[in-house]
Amino acid sequence: MSQNLRIALTKGRLQDKAVSLFEAMGLDCTPIKNPGRRLIHTIPNYPLDGVLAKAPDVITYVEHGVCDLGIAGKDTILEQGGAFYEVLDLGFGKCRFALAVKEGSDFYGTYKTRRIASKYPNVARAFFAKKGMDVDIIKIEGSVELAPILGLADAIVDIVETGATLKENGLVPIETVAPVSARLIVNTASMKLRKAEIQDFIARCERELEKK
Ligand code: PRP
Repeated sequence: MSQNLRIALTKGRLQDKAVSLFEAMGLDCTPIKNPGRRLIHTIPNYPLDGVLAKAPDVITYVEHGVCDLGIAGKDTILEQGGAFYEVLDLGFGKCRFALAVKEGSDFYGTYKTRRIASKYPNVARAFFAKKGMDVDIIKIEGSVELAPILGLADAIVDIVETGATLKENGLVPIETVAPVSARLIVNTASMKLRKAEIQDFIARCERELEKK
């Protein structure tokens, strides 16, 4: 008997939404919903093992072929890049990358080199490169909204979902950098070697997404 397909799931919010999708597809997700400290879970009624991992690691596991499939946010995909197929927009985990500044500040009204703080330096760099703007990027690990408030940066490039975090910290979005949502990704070799099984899984996902 061949080994189950293996899918890497981003732990946290995307994990819960992926589980809801899988359940709607008829997959028994009881093991993933009661994980304890276990990190690999076999779906009892479909030949699939779920691996729980941090977002950047989902991409690494899929890229290296130790997982055939993965569910990752477009934010992580844009930041990290890599060689894999992005086959489906799963439609959940929707938010956007935005450029945000302190309320009232005139970001484009100066010739000095702007400083941009972001947890996503590659996304920020690519955005300004496309504009032909020379900026200094400062990598921040979290709560990026602090950087302009503390005077470290002129602007941030960050995830905006409801906009509440920006608002409560006196910041305003001035441009959308890119839309973000969860994506189904596939290892390039698996796509060839386990084509039928992977296509069956993708088709099941698609059928469920079409109902929405
Ligand atoms: C993300 C993002 C914003 C916030 C946006 O942060 O970096 O801070 O969510 O959500 P909102 O528009 O709904 O307010 P996260 O909670 O992942 O924590 P972090 O800032 O420490 O990365």
